[in-house]
Amino acid sequence: MHLTMRVLRRAVSVFSVICMSAVGAAAAPASEPQGGSLRTSQLLGDGWHFSKGNPRGAHEGAFDDQGWQLVHVPHDWAISEPFNPNNDSNTRFDWRGEGWYRHALDLPAAAAGHQVFLDFDGVMAFAQVYVNGQLAGGWDYGYNSFRIDATPFVNFGAANVVAVHADTREHWSRWYAGAGIYRKVVLTLTAPVHVAHWGTYVTTPHISANNAQVQIQTTIDNDSNTPQAVTVSTSIVAPGEAATPRLVANEVLSVPAHASRPLTQHIDVKDPQLWGPKSPSLYTAISTLSIGGKVVDTYQTKFGIRSLEFTVDDGLHVNGERLQIHGVDLHHDHGPLGSAFHVRAMERQLQIMKDMGVNAIRTSHNPPAPELLDLADQMGLLVFAECFDKWDQTADRMPYVDLASFGRRNIGQFIRRDRNHPSIMIWSIGNEIWDIEGSQDKSAAESVRMMAGFVREFDATRPVTMANHMPQSIGTGLHRYLDVISWNYGEKYVAGRAAYPNKPTWMSESSSGVSTRGFYQLTLPAYKEEFPAKPTLDSSDLNAVSWGDIADVEFTRIGAHRYVAGEFVWSGFDYIGEPTPYEQVARSSYFGIVDLVGLAKDRYYLYRSYWAPEAATVHILPHWTWPEEQKGRPLPVFVYTNGDSAELFLNGRSLGMRSKVVTESLPANLAINTAATASSEQGQSGHAAKGAVDGSGATRWCASDDRAGAWLQLDLGGVKELKTIYVDFEKSIDNYQYTIKGSVDGKQWTVLSAKRDFSGAGTGLTVMVDASSRYLRLEFDQLKMGAWASVAEFEAYGAQIDRSYYGATRTYRLRWDNVPYAPGELTAVAYKEGAKLGSETIHTAGAPVALSLAADRSEFASGGDDLSYLTLSAVDAQGHPHPEADHLIHLSVAGAGELAGVGNGDPASTDAFQSSDVRLFHGKAIVIIKGKSGPGGAIQVTATAPGLAPVTLELTAVDAKKAF
Ligand code: GAL
Repeated sequence: MHLTMRVLRRAVSVFSVICMSAVGAAAAPASEPQGGSLRTSQLLGDGWHFSKGNPRGAHEGAFDDQGWQLVHVPHDWAISEPFNPNNDSNTRFDWRGEGWYRHALDLPAAAAGHQVFLDFDGVMAFAQVYVNGQLAGGWDYGYNSFRIDATPFVNFGAANVVAVHADTREHWSRWYAGAGIYRKVVLTLTAPVHVAHWGTYVTTPHISANNAQVQIQTTIDNDSNTPQAVTVSTSIVAPGEAATPRLVANEVLSVPAHASRPLTQHIDVKDPQLWGPKSPSLYTAISTLSIGGKVVDTYQTKFGIRSLEFTVDDGLHVNGERLQIHGVDLHHDHGPLGSAFHVRAMERQLQIMKDMGVNAIRTSHNPPAPELLDLADQMGLLVFAECFDKWDQTADRMPYVDLASFGRRNIGQFIRRDRNHPSIMIWSIGNEIWDIEGSQDKSAAESVRMMAGFVREFDATRPVTMANHMPQSIGTGLHRYLDVISWNYGEKYVAGRAAYPNKPTWMSESSSGVSTRGFYQLTLPAYKEEFPAKPTLDSSDLNAVSWGDIADVEFTRIGAHRYVAGEFVWSGFDYIGEPTPYEQVARSSYFGIVDLVGLAKDRYYLYRSYWAPEAATVHILPHWTWPEEQKGRPLPVFVYTNGDSAELFLNGRSLGMRSKVVTESLPANLAINTAATASSEQGQSGHAAKGAVDGSGATRWCASDDRAGAWLQLDLGGVKELKTIYVDFEKSIDNYQYTIKGSVDGKQWTVLSAKRDFSGAGTGLTVMVDASSRYLRLEFDQLKMGAWASVAEFEAYGAQIDRSYYGATRTYRLRWDNVPYAPGELTAVAYKEGAKLGSETIHTAGAPVALSLAADRSEFASGGDDLSYLTLSAVDAQGHPHPEADHLIHLSVAGAGELAGVGNGDPASTDAFQSSDVRLFHGKAIVIIKGKSGPGGAIQVTATAPGLAPVTLELTAVDAKKAF
């Protein structure tokens, strides 16, 4: 029962800078191909004039834009504006509005006869592109890429102006969308006969150990006035080889005037080097078009050869081997840079994730910048490529635009651009589309069928999915049209698999744990939703939102089901927007494993311990710099390690060894799938009594009304010795007064536990008992207003177990719950199977005396696209960073660089990202430096703060033209 999806991929490298003199010196009439003419691409980065608003006549060729701001594209106009604490968009940014961009196009007379294209990777939103005052085209969906054919509107040998209108007023988003031309723009010139836009499609219909059949479909556009006989030669360059083609297919194709024709060729690759997470081998297909012996176009397509198989029972197989998905969901912003795309910011993000053991990325919830996929191809990361969130204005689909035409057009762009990337393993048509998932109407499932069909029309080699969050979606039948069932949160895959036993499944979103980097409460949260009033969440990784769960709970559950192919954690990085649970006051998320500026939270090491087992991880939390009054008082200490045990030492004195509790030793739940009855059942909602004993917290029993006195009863099938009873209520237990009883015959009952007030917190109740019972009964004696008698899971065990919510933490972390604080050194020495794995020591820091700056790269390219990230901290006389330093630091940059942005990962701060001042937050901040345009040179970055010795760091910007 395997669904086999075999694929292969491409990525066009478009970064060559145009050299106009090479573009056919003697201009020929437009109807004739240019002898020796090749395509050229020029990045339109510098030289854009920008104005916010909608100045009259801004689209006109002759409009005077000299007073406008000169900007570099990619550009996000909203990120440089001040925060507006009163803005209710939950980003606290005013990103809604209109803006105009204008750029001169230099098209020498010698280039006449070429086709002129403007390729936009993304404009937020509703782009309208004018060339010399005429509307040349546009695109509605702000996250999609599009091409404008400017040929009919340009003048060669004369001035040309491109004007772009962007408008975010109708765009909906619960995260920060940004505003403007936020991804790159490329001017592409081709001969009239050329490879079409995204015109190659490379697949591998057959792969065996010693041969891969590569199929290349090339679409040729003939934009000339005469039919053309085009020789299409396709060659393949093996990974790591010089551009000497090894394998060639040649064919002549007749293409009528002003028409497009596809040609399919096959090339056998012997002993293929497979693309995979450990060996991301990329081949290059070179398509050469010639007419009458003269080359008119060459086009490169990167692709990989690999097989992917989503199995029903055994997760995902890549090249025949099972790969547990350790994935993260990522939004598109880059913190202080906003949505303005920077390849280096993306690369850094992916490097940080990969170091943690991530092997897959979900591009939630929109098409990514194309460079993300190039990076994923090169780094061996798999991609869950998602096209939409909902099919509404989050996708810029206005209510009057019909789904069929919108869907086909946008899915077509999304897939045709990216279908050659080996990294892409699956296509997603949407996320939590509640009106579809929760619909009673048949047309909802029909829409899923239609949208999934559009995907298959453009790429039938990969599976199609959609991220679901409502268990009732099972009843709509929509899953029939999906190849893989993707669930967000809980254990919905249990019910999903029961309904669709032949479909592979996984978690498109898991966890939604929340924390603030570097902040530690002195008492640990007692339950996952214990959130303090102040918008700062404990960093001990015990908090998660109501619909999510801490990392350890997800590890336990997913680990128990081999058929679940893995998880995508919400979220890899913090992002601007969705500051849950502080929507009213904060401006960026708390969900990230890493904060908004890329500094690891403690969770990073928890995931790394399990996802990167080959790397030695030993990480202690909290920090060890506490005030005087803390001396002698207990602090909880956790160690995150891939070892199985560790010993903790405080100032050289052992605090004992701890070992992880092995989950396999947990006894069986005696209540699972037993006969359950209830006083009543909310049957029409599917909340029958059996939902409380099916092993899934996603399903539940609920009484049919809100009256007290409702009961749930289990028959264990025989008298059993019971030591632990665990009840997971629907709501927190302060909503209920209850009695739990046991009986051998169902007549004589003994009270095992009771609560006679509305006290307590959290949904889980563990009761230690010493009973012999066949029947168990839970009676709801009193209910708080709004709470109904309702149970997600009722469990019974024959042994004493820690079935409390945080029980799982004893399996995945090492805990010393009460360490009396003494300043000095805290050391953890970790062991794996008896052998020493590594150690970490943290120190109590004294008063800060100096600033410290450390760069991730001291050399980088000039020009504004490349970046260096500097970590700023305040150190004591011994050089130990102070974990609570919160100084306001002033920055100055001299030489060939400038500040690109600053930030500190505080989700509640409304300090500007584009500023020369930044405050340390729990001891750290990030400074992002870019190179100025031009040849580069030395850059000095100086940080100063009153009372601290300043620091200057020297960086070097290398001439971008030479660097790449
Ligand atoms: C999901 C949603 C995500 C994000 C997340 C936060 O339900 O798909 O976009 O909102 O919740 O937990």
